[in-house]
Amino acid sequence: MTGGKRKLDHIKMCINKDVESSGKNWFGDVSFIPRALPEINPEDVDTSIEFFGRRLASPLIIEGMTGGIKEATRINAILAEAAEKLNISMGVGSQRIAIENPKLTRSFRVVREKAPNAFLIANVGCPQLSRDFGLKEIEKSIDMIDANAIAVHMNPLQEIIQLGGEAYYRNVIKKLTDLVPRIRVPVIVKETGAGVAKEDAVELGKTGIHGIDVGGCGGTSWAAVEYHRAKARGDRKREALGKSFWEWGIPTTVSVVEVRRSFGGTVIASGGIRDGIDVAKALALGADCVGMALPLLRMATKDPSRLAGFLGEVIQELRICMFLVGARSIQELKRAPIIVAGKTGEWLRLRGIDIEDYARR
Ligand code: FNR
Repeated sequence: MTGGKRKLDHIKMCINKDVESSGKNWFGDVSFIPRALPEINPEDVDTSIEFFGRRLASPLIIEGMTGGIKEATRINAILAEAAEKLNISMGVGSQRIAIENPKLTRSFRVVREKAPNAFLIANVGCPQLSRDFGLKEIEKSIDMIDANAIAVHMNPLQEIIQLGGEAYYRNVIKKLTDLVPRIRVPVIVKETGAGVAKEDAVELGKTGIHGIDVGGCGGTSWAAVEYHRAKARGDRKREALGKSFWEWGIPTTVSVVEVRRSFGGTVIASGGIRDGIDVAKALALGADCVGMALPLLRMATKDPSRLAGFLGEVIQELRICMFLVGARSIQELKRAPIIVAGKTGEWLRLRGIDIEDYARR
């Protein structure tokens, strides 16, 4: 199977099938303490943030999803127009396919054409770093979209489950340690739906990387995507594997806390973020910025004229949350007391994290 066919399959499955964690995200475990007297007016609320030295209107990222196939040009163009309009950040999907076949760069480059001022994030994978990618390939990826940062994705679950997957994960830390000081833009390391534990965040911190996107469990599940693909081609063995690992991973709520407490750089929350209240909760748990993928892909393909409006609604919900807890800025929201209960609370308690800190700050 070619890389292009596989990418198209992924997009189709994500658009048309149930590919999300069936337990849904764990943000229901997190509650704000509403203020009956917020002591501010709605117009006092400012959602802007500083993101790697740039001022963005809202702490939202359109997460990296696609590129390298014909269909991706249109999807990336639609997503990039929304990013430009709202002055938010956007990533692209893995650029490996276009590094190996430069004829495919257009589907990535379109994001810079449509979003000349947006903060754009390039994307390569750990399996490539583990094997053959070096500074030259990283620079090509950055140049391809004139990127402001580069994300290196971690996807061991997807690689081990998918047919023809490349689960090469030896020496990634060593490679990052060598490359990071020589890369001219900030480096973000991101998971893709199974989350990042404290243990990995500590090791990643030592490499000098600038950000971690937790890409936690609770939204798009790559095991689920592979389940549907295997089923469609009658591959019983991989269908069963996809089903078994459907819920594999560290929930986004938990991962944000683990990473925030063990890593000094920028923390991005993604994985199952579905509305502005999830965004606010992720920030209060310690994220600096919050990413969304699947709902935006679905809207960009099914109802593109609604995409910017939908993102506007998410931002409006975030603003309302901030008003209701009396937070004028994202910094103040991050200090707002929250109750961390349920399975998230239990998980964190067992990992030695004092969740009362969040309720009493
Ligand atoms: C992704 N994601 C992803 N991540 C990455 O670093 N490189 C990639 O190429 C892709 N490709 C991709 C394709 C599609 C169709 C989806 C839905 C997602 C993962 C994505 O960036 C993000 O980490 C999670 O998907 C966020 O969770 P939600 O919002 O989709 O639940």
